[in-house]
Amino acid sequence: MAMELSMILRATMVGVAPIALAVAADAAVSVDSEAKVFRLDGGGVTYAFGVDEKGYLQPLYWGPSLAPRDKLSAGAAPELSGFDPAGSVTAQEYPGQGEGLVTEPGLKVAFANGNRDLVLKYQGYRIAGDTVTIDLTDIERPLFVSLRYNIDPATGIIARDATVRNAGTAPVRVDQIASAILTLPNQPDYRLHYFSGRHAAEWTLNTQPVGSALTVLESRRGSTGHQSDPWFAIDRASESAEESGPVWFGALAWSGSWRISVGADNLGRVKIAGGYNPYDFSWRLKPGESLSTPTFYAGYSTAGMGGASRLMHRFQLAHILPGAPAPKLRPVLYNSWEATEFNVNEAGQMRLAEKAAAIGVERFVVDDGWFGARNNDRAGLGDWVVNRSKFPNGLAPLIDKVHGLGMSFGLWVEPEMVNRDSDLYRSHPDWVLYYPGRPRTEGRNQLVLNLARDDVRDHLLKTLDDLLRQNDIQLLKWDYNRNWTEPGWPQMKPEDQQRVYVRYVQNLYYILSELRRRHPGVEIESCSGGGGRIDLGIMRYTDQVWPSDNTDPYDRLTIQDGFTHAYAPAVMMAWVTDTPNWANGRSASLTYRFLSSMQGSLGIGANLDKWTDQDFATAKAMVAAYKTIRETVQRGDLYRLLPPSPGNERSATLYVSRDKRQAVFFQMLHSSMRRDNPLAVALRGLSAEMNYHVRTIDGSSLPAGMPQAASGSYWMTRGVNLLQRGDFVGDALVFEASDRS
Ligand code: GLA
Repeated sequence: MAMELSMILRATMVGVAPIALAVAADAAVSVDSEAKVFRLDGGGVTYAFGVDEKGYLQPLYWGPSLAPRDKLSAGAAPELSGFDPAGSVTAQEYPGQGEGLVTEPGLKVAFANGNRDLVLKYQGYRIAGDTVTIDLTDIERPLFVSLRYNIDPATGIIARDATVRNAGTAPVRVDQIASAILTLPNQPDYRLHYFSGRHAAEWTLNTQPVGSALTVLESRRGSTGHQSDPWFAIDRASESAEESGPVWFGALAWSGSWRISVGADNLGRVKIAGGYNPYDFSWRLKPGESLSTPTFYAGYSTAGMGGASRLMHRFQLAHILPGAPAPKLRPVLYNSWEATEFNVNEAGQMRLAEKAAAIGVERFVVDDGWFGARNNDRAGLGDWVVNRSKFPNGLAPLIDKVHGLGMSFGLWVEPEMVNRDSDLYRSHPDWVLYYPGRPRTEGRNQLVLNLARDDVRDHLLKTLDDLLRQNDIQLLKWDYNRNWTEPGWPQMKPEDQQRVYVRYVQNLYYILSELRRRHPGVEIESCSGGGGRIDLGIMRYTDQVWPSDNTDPYDRLTIQDGFTHAYAPAVMMAWVTDTPNWANGRSASLTYRFLSSMQGSLGIGANLDKWTDQDFATAKAMVAAYKTIRETVQRGDLYRLLPPSPGNERSATLYVSRDKRQAVFFQMLHSSMRRDNPLAVALRGLSAEMNYHVRTIDGSSLPAGMPQAASGSYWMTRGVNLLQRGDFVGDALVFEASDRS
């Protein structure tokens, strides 16, 4: 079937007028209305799908840019055998669960009369702005599905979501709904990369071959969870590496129970499905009602895992984070949680604030313990009133002091939780998630408020709004310290209770967005006992995240290496804390701890009351040095030159500013194993022609034999040779372009 680009629609055009337009280099959405082929082009990527003669919407292509003249077409598949009917053999962009489908459905429903056969076929398309919407409908029932697509012209990252609408007169039960099904080109040796983890041990990267055994990444916990993260990357074992070869990757923007499945069908076609987790989920769609999915973002890189993550970082800065496309740089913060735990009070925090300001800290954050009867984790959650025995005059004197020292002020909250021992729980025991007559399982002595309830939502919004009105606060550290256990919503009809998985998160997003609207100067950090709620959904409302409660500087290198595969260093808070570390008892020098944390957004969480003069001097110098490289670390391109994998003697990262005029190289020695380590590390991403002067980050002398300046080409081929000896030794070099030669 000839594919004529009979209609090319520029991304900026609205409407579907059948006018032939010239092919524009930056055309994002093009439609061949004759062949019924749709193309998204941008950032060196083409994504295409089309309609076959039976009306199925088929995936056609996802990979490096095709030429506009390249022909694509969808042909109907015949049955393979009596065991594989035509409908189930046809690759579909969004199959309904019907007709013998044996792969992951886009949508699985039960109609009121018990019929569970759903066959979705093409009905039409719409274009508005840079978004193309494909309408599908069941072959017989008035159930409609709209699939939305757009592509980011800079990164080639595609955004997909789906909406199901019940236009019938009886309810329809939705049992499973995906945001998207993605199909990879028919190629061999795909490898899946994904995260595993638990509290204080998040962001472990795993790799396994993609085969016909379905792999399910998921959270059944009600929130994103520490156990995995809604992100995947798939590369080719024979072709791909950290900086080369193809990588397909994606992330689901959802902070509730989620599921991403990856596997090959019996014809070897690899499919990735992502959306709400169908585990314990259902949604009774009333007549006239719609249900929409979160967005599934998906991208393609030709530059390996490093290239894939740099695209994700740029995309987050340009499109996801508050303030995008120019989110603010993260200030250097201080937080005394590890040092003082619940023992916060006005005098102690003022003393720490003075010390923090003296070393160049820009934001002072008061953590848990400032409110209600919160002297330990058994009481007080839910009562967001200042504890007057700790802060006799409220928070105002401390906040004024912090501001007077030139710092902004941050405050910890955990709004979605309640201790049994709290005034809120005593007056509203029915506000939590529970099943009547069943135990209410506690986690860290707390229960989860049922935020799916609109009265709970309104209470929390008002409480936090009042807190922000009454206090001059610049950051909320928003915590969430347990998972769901008995997710009952007894105030709803039994058939509607499982809406809780969606309504809860929608109300959370509502509160966050409403607080931001009402208080545009307030930033928010997403924390969940460390990295338990980090995803592209929450990141739309939060400026920074807390990747892990594990603050050990060596463990953090692995955590940061994993984290940056999916998320930007700009949001990755990293504190310098006390040694030996609480998590594993390891000791490391203050310089090593700083150099580990300076690879993300720097914070300090040590007990400054115990620091020596030398510690203060070191910290002051390192904070000042960080400010000279902060923009490069938080906005630049990250190259993971040597991973800190267990067994590796040393690791190295490089951050290159977008204009390539500055680069920062970190080399961290774990434990030297031989007499010396002579191998040089080649830099990447510099301009070959520019001349770069190099200096150590702390002003110490350069290693013997290292030139003070050389071309980018030199640094990228000869590399840098930093001899390190001992245990837990860190170095950083800063490269500044001086001129063009
Ligand atoms: C969680 C957070 C910590 C700290 C404590 C306070 O564990 O991850 O950073 O805020 O709660 O209780």
